[in-house]
Amino acid sequence: MKILAFETSCDDTGVAIVADGCDVISNVRVSQVEHTEYGGVVPEIAARLHAENWRGTLEKCLTKAKMTIDDVDALAVTQGPGLQTSLLTGTTAASFLSQFFKKPLIPVQHIRGHINSVTLGRNPAEIEYPVLTLTVSGGHTDMFLQRSTTEVERIGGTLDDAAGEAFDKCAKMLGLGYPGGPIVSKQAESGNGAAFDFPRPLPVRGDLNFSFSGIKAAVHRLLEEQPDANVADVCASFEQAVVDVFVRKVGFAIDAHPDLRAVHFTGGVSANRAIREALWKLCDERGLEFRVPKEFIYCTDNAAMIAGEAFWQIQKNPELAQVQFVDAQPRMTS
Ligand code: KG4
Ligand code: ZN
Repeated sequence: MKILAFETSCDDTGVAIVADGCDVISNVRVSQVEHTEYGGVVPEIAARLHAENWRGTLEKCLTKAKMTIDDVDALAVTQGPGLQTSLLTGTTAASFLSQFFKKPLIPVQHIRGHINSVTLGRNPAEIEYPVLTLTVSGGHTDMFLQRSTTEVERIGGTLDDAAGEAFDKCAKMLGLGYPGGPIVSKQAESGNGAAFDFPRPLPVRGDLNFSFSGIKAAVHRLLEEQPDANVADVCASFEQAVVDVFVRKVGFAIDAHPDLRAVHFTGGVSANRAIREALWKLCDERGLEFRVPKEFIYCTDNAAMIAGEAFWQIQKNPELAQVQFVDAQPRMTS
C-alpha cells in the first residue's frame, strides 16, 4: 500500500511516498535556512515558507517517484504536535487533495512518526519486541516501551527542556548558530569532555525521568564566569554530560524491563555520533540489539516517517483512513 505524506510541523517542508510502512519510494525535504540568523525558528517565517514551498516539494516528490497522486492509495499528514501556523500548510494541502482526488487521509501524531522511523528501509518483520524506544528531538525527550509498532507506552521523559533544545540553547549561548545539535557535536570532536564538570541530573536508580535545564543553566553560568572558555571544551563537556545522562537512564530502563529485545534511538538528536556510540556499547554489553534510523534524513523531521506511521496506524484501525478534512492540533499528545 502506497501512502503519500506531508510533514510541516516545524521548519522543514517534507513530502514522501512510502509503501507498506518501510519501503521509501521518494522522500523530499526543503529545509528553511532563513532561521539560522535568529538562533531559533521564527513561526511567521516558517509559515510563509511552508506556504511557498509545499507545492514544489510535492511535485519534486512525485517526479522522483515517477508517480501521480492517482497512483497512491492514501494520503497522510502530521496533525500535531508542532507550530500551529506550520501545521496548517500540511493539513490544509492534504485535506484539499483528499477531497479533490477522493483519497483517504490519515492524521498522524508527529512523535509516533519518529518512534517508528526505524522501520524505514528495513524489514519490519526482523524487529523483535518488546523494544525500548528513546525519542529525542528539539521539542521532546521520551522513553517508550513498545510491544509492537502500535502498542506504545510512555515510561519516562523530560520534566523540563528537551535534549535537542538544550543543544540549540548551548549553541546560541556560544554564538554558534542554529540548529545547535550538529554544530555543538562537530565542535565537541576537538574538545576535552572532562574540561568542565556539568551536572548529570536525577541520578536516583530507577528514575526514568530527565532534566536538561540544569545542564543548560550550568553552561550559562560558566560562560558568565569564564567568557573566554575554550568553545570546543565547553561543547565536549556539555555533550559528555548529555551522553552520561542517556546511558544512565537507558540502563535503568533496561534493568526495569528484563524481557527487552532491543533499544531504538530516534528523533533529531539520534543523529548524534557520541550518543549513538555510547548507547550502542551499552546495548552490546547488555546483549540487546541497538537500532537508529537507517538514514540520517530519517532522524530529523521528514515525511517518510509520517507515511510509515500512517501505514501502521491503519493496520490497527482501518477506519482512520477516510476522505476527510484534518484539522491541525498543535498540542496533540497521543
Ligand atoms: O526531530 P527534529 O528534526 O525536530 C523536532 O521534532 O524537534 O529534531 C531537531 C533537533 C534540534 O534540536 C537539533 O539541534 C537536534 O535535533 N539535532 C542534533 C543533531 N542533529 C540534530 N542534536 C545533537 N546532535 C546532532 N548531530
Ligand atoms: Zn520531530
